[in-house]
Amino acid sequence: DMGGHDTYMHKEIHEQADAVDRVLRGRIDDRFSTVHLGGLNLDAREARQIRRVKILGCGTSYHAGMIGAQMIEELARIPADAEPASEFRYRNAVVDPDTLYIAVSQSGETYDVLAAVQELKRKGARVLGVVNVVGSAIAREADGGVYVHAGPEVCVVSTKCFTNTTVAFALLALHLGRTRDLSVRDGKRIIEGLRKLPEQINEILKQEEEIKELAEAYAEARSMLFIGRVRGYPVAREASLKLKEVSYIHAEAYPASELKHGPLALIEPALPTVAIVPDDDLLEKNRAALEEIKARSGKILAVAHQHQEKADQTVIVPKNEDELDPILMGIPLQLLAYHTAKALGRDIDKPRNLAKSVTVE
Ligand code: M6R
Repeated sequence: DMGGHDTYMHKEIHEQADAVDRVLRGRIDDRFSTVHLGGLNLDAREARQIRRVKILGCGTSYHAGMIGAQMIEELARIPADAEPASEFRYRNAVVDPDTLYIAVSQSGETYDVLAAVQELKRKGARVLGVVNVVGSAIAREADGGVYVHAGPEVCVVSTKCFTNTTVAFALLALHLGRTRDLSVRDGKRIIEGLRKLPEQINEILKQEEEIKELAEAYAEARSMLFIGRVRGYPVAREASLKLKEVSYIHAEAYPASELKHGPLALIEPALPTVAIVPDDDLLEKNRAALEEIKARSGKILAVAHQHQEKADQTVIVPKNEDELDPILMGIPLQLLAYHTAKALGRDIDKPRNLAKSVTVE
């Protein structure tokens, strides 16, 4: 039942405020400015002994993991990174007992992720799952984890589960942080930010009409560039994947700082750039990148917290805490992908050549 929406993608994009409400529900502990994650199976002593975090996932879940790694590193000060599970599996990685491994998956059935979990467990590693489908293979195989509670996601293209996974990572990062050196004050700050998310998501979704108009204009592009820096980079990666999957327009994501090392050669009016421009300590750096693109007659669509003079259009996203900004900044770009695909008459819920869960090698 699509409840009045024309596709599951559209329905699921619009379910995100409720979905985020669900992932937060019952987990916030105001007394200690932390969160409780019932299924983690990781006591405080163990949490303090973690020396590194390695996050594994595929596709959109990998991108959510990239955001999660940054959150864990920022809030818990544990070195963390994400890697495609498929790459990790095949490179005979060093498995280290002081590393916490985290497998991320909407379906909980993705073969490459499951195989990575099994290989890690065989070698005695501790593996947590950040999974949406309760009781799925990866959830069962993991030593513990955090359920994402996005609810059923039907569209092959992941939207609400991506958002909820990033929120689940914020909870995990806050929990690890408050078990280690994150102050009560910062804990409170993050909790306040988390509580604002559902309302802010609805504020973004209210701009759908304007985003639709932009999408119709960009639907003619043969290729698009997505750029971001640090917190904005995984957002750019995910937005670029979304556009490719549903519209079949070629898209490439690049760290904004890498433009001058090559991709600037591509800039011309026919290659539009989508830039993620949060109001954080990198704002001026990002503005400089916009200027470089503008100087070469590139078209720019900015997703930002305030109007960007160098951009041709700016979609304004409400500001949250710096660490939580990436949760929101991709949402207008889900709508951009959706409306671009719609303008092109694509099969939005079932893009060609793709399956909802990839249970083969
Ligand atoms: O179920 P999973 O999260 O493990 O799936 C991983 C990827 O196959 C999935 O995210 C894929 O990239 C989607 N089509 C994204 O929209």
